[in-house]
Amino acid sequence: MKSFNIAAYISGSGSNLRAVIDSSLSGYISSQVRLVIANKEVSGLDHPKELGIETAVVSRELMTRKEFLDVQIRLLEKHGIDLIVLAGFLKKLPPEIVDKYKGRILNIHPALLPKFGGKGMHGMAVHGAVVAAGEKYSGPTVHFVDNKYDHGEILIQRKIELTEGETAETLQKKVLEVEHIIYPEAIKLLEERE
Ligand code: GRF
Repeated sequence: MKSFNIAAYISGSGSNLRAVIDSSLSGYISSQVRLVIANKEVSGLDHPKELGIETAVVSRELMTRKEFLDVQIRLLEKHGIDLIVLAGFLKKLPPEIVDKYKGRILNIHPALLPKFGGKGMHGMAVHGAVVAAGEKYSGPTVHFVDNKYDHGEILIQRKIELTEGETAETLQKKVLEVEHIIYPEAIKLLEERE
């Protein structure tokens, strides 16, 4: 059984990050979040900071492409990172990182991929599209990351039923609750595979 040194990438409130940290604190997973990277100062950085986990803001707008890549590689190597978890990260990782960590990068998406994925499909846009399409089911997907948005092999997917009068807002809430369960499950699955 493997215990990973996790780097989480976030762009928002980091509720999935919190779920992963909690599952590690409770002992459900043996891996630990060692590093949190965000593309800007976001509220999701507060919790890891309070716990003494190293955080960094790495923005392509503030540096050259080389610096942007080098800073990330340096941080990932410093913490011996062997699993990257994208938790609401809205940017694409540099292809060099995707290649270097092939099979070691997970993403969570709030719909049943391959449906409702791809560029621009995030947050409310996803749930709005699901409701507008009259889908009977939705639910989150954890998948490996490759160089295309929302594309790599699926690790876990959990279906939930849309109920009468469902809106994008109510659906988002329901799906997010399930995300917090399946992201730790996906990491546990990987730990057990090793
Ligand atoms: C989640 O819905 C996740 O599926 C998507 O971005 C959202 C992140 O939410 N990739 P949070 O920041 O973890 O609360």
